[in-house]
Amino acid sequence: MITTKLKNHNCGELTLNNLNEEVVLSGWASTIRDLGGILFVELRDRTGFFQLVANPQINPQVHKIFEKVKSEYVICVKGKVTRRPEETYNEKYATGQVEMYPESVEILSESKTLPFVLDDDNVSEDVRLKYRYLDIRREKMLKNLTLRHKICQAARNYLNGEEFLEVETPILIKTTPEGARDYLVPSRVQEGKFFALPQSPQIFKQLLMVGGIERYYQIAKCFRDEDLRADRQPEFTQIDLEMSFVEQQDVIKCVEGLIVETFKAAGVEVKTPFIQMPWQEAMDRYGSDKPDTRFDLELFDLGDIILESEFEIVKKTLQNGGIVRGIRIPGGAKFSRKDIDDITKLAVSFGAKALANIIYQEDGTAKSPVLKFVTEAQAKQIQERAQAVAGDIIFFVADKPKLVYDIMGRLRLHFGKTLNLIDENKHNLLWVVDFPMFEWSEEEGRFMAMHHPFTSPCLEDLAKLDSGDLGNVKSIAYDIVYNGTELGGGSVRIHSSEVQQKIFKALGLTEEEAIEKFGFMVNALQYGTPPHAGLAIGLDRLVALLCRTDSIRDVIAFPKNSGAKCLMSDAPGEASLQQLRELHLKSTAQRQ
Ligand code: AMO
Ligand code: AMP
Repeated sequence: MITTKLKNHNCGELTLNNLNEEVVLSGWASTIRDLGGILFVELRDRTGFFQLVANPQINPQVHKIFEKVKSEYVICVKGKVTRRPEETYNEKYATGQVEMYPESVEILSESKTLPFVLDDDNVSEDVRLKYRYLDIRREKMLKNLTLRHKICQAARNYLNGEEFLEVETPILIKTTPEGARDYLVPSRVQEGKFFALPQSPQIFKQLLMVGGIERYYQIAKCFRDEDLRADRQPEFTQIDLEMSFVEQQDVIKCVEGLIVETFKAAGVEVKTPFIQMPWQEAMDRYGSDKPDTRFDLELFDLGDIILESEFEIVKKTLQNGGIVRGIRIPGGAKFSRKDIDDITKLAVSFGAKALANIIYQEDGTAKSPVLKFVTEAQAKQIQERAQAVAGDIIFFVADKPKLVYDIMGRLRLHFGKTLNLIDENKHNLLWVVDFPMFEWSEEEGRFMAMHHPFTSPCLEDLAKLDSGDLGNVKSIAYDIVYNGTELGGGSVRIHSSEVQQKIFKALGLTEEEAIEKFGFMVNALQYGTPPHAGLAIGLDRLVALLCRTDSIRDVIAFPKNSGAKCLMSDAPGEASLQQLRELHLKSTAQRQ
């Protein structure tokens, strides 16, 4: 440890090995108990607790000062490490066999009464975020931040060993291609102009490849103005990397090594290689591009059977480009009517127009209103497809593919959780590969890039770009999924300006628009661009999962709340009229 005049040992590290040593300790008075006039103080620092005893009979001056010490005062003590009476050994602490009768004590700083008791687990998150600096004193936060540090170091060590260079990229930039809303910063010097904050270092890391850096990484801050959830923050951190002269499998191999090392830092051993599952298979089996494979309940397709039946309403959906997918819940025949109604309501809340069910009763017969539309043979085919046995229930939905996958994928997760099918001790890592290049946006009425517009299409699909068959163009993109969460994603990039132009065109960007938005990138591609590919891992998500917490706020020192606000500093705050004037902006009041 680094010693100073105020501290030459850590509280949590003193044991019988230090017996009779003269030490100087500093820290927070965590608990203070008065037992018959003798004061017992648990002194806390980052490493743990150490017991101090102030006995007026032994050292009246020291006891007098200790009488003034209240909870969370910062104090410095000097004295000898002594053995506790054996009957008072405290097994809870590593230091539970030793203590100190300080020879001197100094109060370094006083503390008001804390707004909440540190180790009270029932304090609301709002209060904890308001006083985050106190919240960070809690063991849980310290543990989370320590693990975050270790994971970052493991990532750095690994990538340094793989010949990556750590390069910083700018925060004040033009715009990014990730597709969320930008945070804007008005320029004072350039009237009417704005910087955007990077949604990721995407363009710059590609330009580093054009610049010949060959292997780049950065633990990078990213900013996205999007709707927040437990696993999303407006500013978050990525372990971002990019490599030249590589193909998809090279990136995958490199990132698998990174995952092994970062998991190891958290004490979790995982084996490589991870499964690589095509996107279509993930959607068909799990209804999700981030499948939680810790439990089964795989979806099945009833389309071919229903098309032969007289189930007209669903047939029509199928004939109009829809699909139908089902899920079997073993033992679900015992669901009550209310259970089934609730499940149906849940499906409706996910966007379903209807949720059909067939109950396979214990007596071997099937019960469902939909059976009137199918022949006995078709009913048997459905049961076989579902692999349903007496005592099961199946549910199915027909609609547009995207909606069906989404509804069924979410229902599957619902059953996985509510039926306790998820083994929390599993660490399932897999790659989802072969993503579609484009995704139809109902809102915008056009195709959008599923990843970002610099992602390379599969070379064998290039002709489809020309013929306009955009829905069937695959990309060389891959996501890494851990226990049903998307940890990271990346792709092989376009390194030909010709292909890049084609993609911009397919996305409905005119040449002028493309140049206005990403001109420097388009230019750079014309000066000798190496084939390159990369990926970014969401560091906050990775740490949160390894800390086994649901919210990434728990692993960020100073996070925003769900309203994208910092409850501690009250940011975002007002700007003065003077500031607005300098930035050539008008306040809402001035506009009216
Ligand atoms: P992508 O947008 O998939 O890819 O982001 C990569 C990973 O970053 C994490 N992430 C987030 N974490 C917290 N809060 C958010 N708002 C948030 N948004 C994303 C996720 C996600 O998997 N430039 C590309 C990477 C590349 O192609 O190399 C990119 O940013 O874990
Ligand atoms: P009925 O209303 O009795 O004629 O039966 C119609 C059945 O079809 C109900 O069980 C509905 O749940 C089911 N159904 C209708 N539309 C869909 C759909 N899009 N997906 C799944 N089931 C459907």
